[in-house]
Amino acid sequence: MYISRRAEFSASHICRSSQLSDAENVRLYGPGANTNGHGHNYVLEVTLAGTPDPATGMIYDLKDLKDVVMREVIDPMDHRHLNFEVPPFDKVIPTTENLAIEIWRRLEPQFKDTPAHLHSVRLYETEDTFVDYYGK
Ligand code: NI
Repeated sequence: MYISRRAEFSASHICRSSQLSDAENVRLYGPGANTNGHGHNYVLEVTLAGTPDPATGMIYDLKDLKDVVMREVIDPMDHRHLNFEVPPFDKVIPTTENLAIEIWRRLEPQFKDTPAHLHSVRLYETEDTFVDYYGK
């Protein structure tokens, strides 16, 4: 069984590769590649998998899940410029894919020693575009 929690954060980013020329960056990432960046209102859906505890009837307390997501993801990323303020995005291009991987990396260890485990991270960059990550 799966339980999910949704959270939102706003952050700025620049998608560009230092390996590429300005023209190649624009071709790959769009005209924003050579600017100081732009913002997105990201929507994150964190899904845990597990079996309800017979004593509590819960897989994981959703209040606690909210706290974990806040502490590990929202607080460090909300209203930040990812490239300049949120490692590893000083070195890693903050595409939605890489952001989902980093969110997974931050959240996955938080459920060790609990009956639940992280099943997936879904990250919407816009209403119509999102990435799903399952740890691979
Ligand atoms: Ni963008």
